[in-house]
Amino acid sequence: MDTLLTNACLVLPDRVVERGWLRAEQGRIVDLGEGDPADPGADLDGDVLIPGLVELHTDHLESHYAPRPSVRWSAFSAVLSYDAQIAASGITTVFDSFRVGSDADSGSLGSEIWKLTEAVRTAGNGGHLRVDHRTHLRCELASPDVLETAEAFVDRFAVDLISLMDHTPGQRQFRSLDAWRRFYTRKSPMSAAELDGFIAKRLDLHARYAHAHRQRLVELAKSNGIALASHDDTTVEHVAESLADGIAVAEFPTTGEAARASHEGGLRVMMGAPNLVRGGSHSGNVAALELAEDGVLDILSSDYVPASLLMAAFALPSRVPGIALHDAIRTVTETPAQATGLTDRGALVPGLRADLVRVHVSPDGPVVRQVWREGRVVA
Ligand SMILES: [Fe+2]
Repeated sequence: MDTLLTNACLVLPDRVVERGWLRAEQGRIVDLGEGDPADPGADLDGDVLIPGLVELHTDHLESHYAPRPSVRWSAFSAVLSYDAQIAASGITTVFDSFRVGSDADSGSLGSEIWKLTEAVRTAGNGGHLRVDHRTHLRCELASPDVLETAEAFVDRFAVDLISLMDHTPGQRQFRSLDAWRRFYTRKSPMSAAELDGFIAKRLDLHARYAHAHRQRLVELAKSNGIALASHDDTTVEHVAESLADGIAVAEFPTTGEAARASHEGGLRVMMGAPNLVRGGSHSGNVAALELAEDGVLDILSSDYVPASLLMAAFALPSRVPGIALHDAIRTVTETPAQATGLTDRGALVPGLRADLVRVHVSPDGPVVRQVWREGRVVA
């Protein structure tokens, strides 16, 4: 479908054009400019036009499918309603994130991720999806079956990102055992003795599996051309390991020290948009805002609130002097696209996909007015 959008504030990769126009044909951006075009087009009434957002880590498909611990919703219906929420949040490329590897905390859906992935495929083949769906496998290293599950998945489906997680008590996100105890006591009330037994079991799993599984998963990703993310890197030693493993994205580093070392080493540092919107980490780790002020925040992810991605990107320039709107938008578009090898999208540049979002900036926050994926209106 051909589209000519006029009277728009265009957010280009390196600057903002206050009044401009953009033409898309056959799913691609073909031309754009300042002022008014020669032909009449659709008047965007001065609203902001940005590239479609690229989301690397959202657990929302899992929560649409399993809205309560004991409830499973129709996988097809869950995919459609999740897809609609993602599109309405201004996201045009989403990495559906699945936890892989049963663990003592039983947070993963186990083999049910097959069913969900099949449902995404069915919905896509039927032409029912608004957004471009990709797959992110979140691999819990200290799990006995993480490797066989990830290998079987990669054999059967396209995977675009693998992250390497280790939530063993005393490690990374939970370097402090006290913090771990507080977090898990809130999630599932256990007696002190039960908690001790649980910790001992997880430490044993860590000793048996974490190192070997990490090596094998890095090999699996490399031999299949899949981008890698580290998770919760905490120390410079973690970062050195990530660099040695050829990791592209440092997902949610927990300390300023790890984030700075990652950024300086060439990793893209990704932080949660809710962390930025709320003004801090919900689990007591480093604040995304502090990293943005230090110039080491590269990517934002909506994590557990899809709408937070756009909110955070529009809030960033007012929170951090020196970050312009086009710099902030890059953290949710071009940089996550490039980090995962998607070179055909993420910027308002002729030749790239016409993934576009019209945003009205209201006094109460940014409002998504229209979304196009490859030139087609999807929200
Ligand atoms: Fe984590």
